[in-house]
Amino acid sequence: MIEPIQIAIDGPAGAGKSTVAKEVARRLGFLYIDTGAMYRAVTWLALERGLSLHDEEVLTALAQEASIQLLRKGDSLAVLVDTIDVTDAIRSPQISSNVSQVAAVAGVRMVLVEQQRAMAKSQNVVMDGRDIGSYVLPFAQVKIFLTASIEERAHRRYLEFMNKGIPVEEERLRQEIRRRDEQDASRDVAPLVRTADAFLIDTTGLGIEEVIQKILDLLPNRGGR
Ligand code: DC
Repeated sequence: MIEPIQIAIDGPAGAGKSTVAKEVARRLGFLYIDTGAMYRAVTWLALERGLSLHDEEVLTALAQEASIQLLRKGDSLAVLVDTIDVTDAIRSPQISSNVSQVAAVAGVRMVLVEQQRAMAKSQNVVMDGRDIGSYVLPFAQVKIFLTASIEERAHRRYLEFMNKGIPVEEERLRQEIRRRDEQDASRDVAPLVRTADAFLIDTTGLGIEEVIQKILDLLPNRGGR
C-alpha cells in the first residue's frame, strides 16, 4: 500500500488552524481531522453529565466509552457524541474555558491520540491540534506551526462571535486566549511546542489564501521538501 500523506498543523488558539486546515484538506481531497473538537467533545459530555473535571480517572473512562465522530457535512465538519450533534455546543464559551483542563489529563489524551492515529493510518489527512507534529504524527510529511499575535487571534475570535450574533468583549477574549496559551504550553503531557522540522507561518496580517498557498507549496510533489 502507498503510504498515506499526513499534513500536521499545530499552533495556539485562534491562529487560524481550523479554517486553513479544512480548506487545504478540501482542495487536496484529504480527510480533515480537528483534534481540538475531540477534546471539546469529551469536555461537553463531562459537563452534560455533571462530572467533576478534576477527576482524571472518571474523565479517562468517559473518553474511552464515548463515541466521537467527525463527519464531513458539505464544507464543514459535524461533530457527534454518541449520535448527538454537538457541532455548535462545543464552541460555547463554557466549553472553551474548561477544555484545557480536560486536555491536560494524560488518560484522556492517550485514548484520543490512539483514535487520531488510527484515522491517519489508512487515508490522507490534514490534522490540526497542538501535539500533532510533535507526538500524534511524528512522521508527517509536512509539519506546519501556525501562529499569530494575541491581538490578532482575539480579534478573529471576536469577529467569529459577532458574525454569529453572540455579544462578547474583545478584551475578555484576549485574556482567555492568553490563559489558554499558558495552560496548553505549560502542561506536563504533550505541551504545545514547535518542533525543529515544523515550518513556521506567522499569519498576522496574512489572508487565508496566502496561508493556504504557503502550505500547498510545501507538499512534496509541488517542489516542497
Ligand atoms: O483548537 P481548539 O481551540 O479547538 O482546542 C481546544 C483545546 O484542546 C485547547 O485548549 C487545546 C486542546 N488541544 C490539545 O491539547 N491537543 C490537541 N491536539 C488539540 C487541542
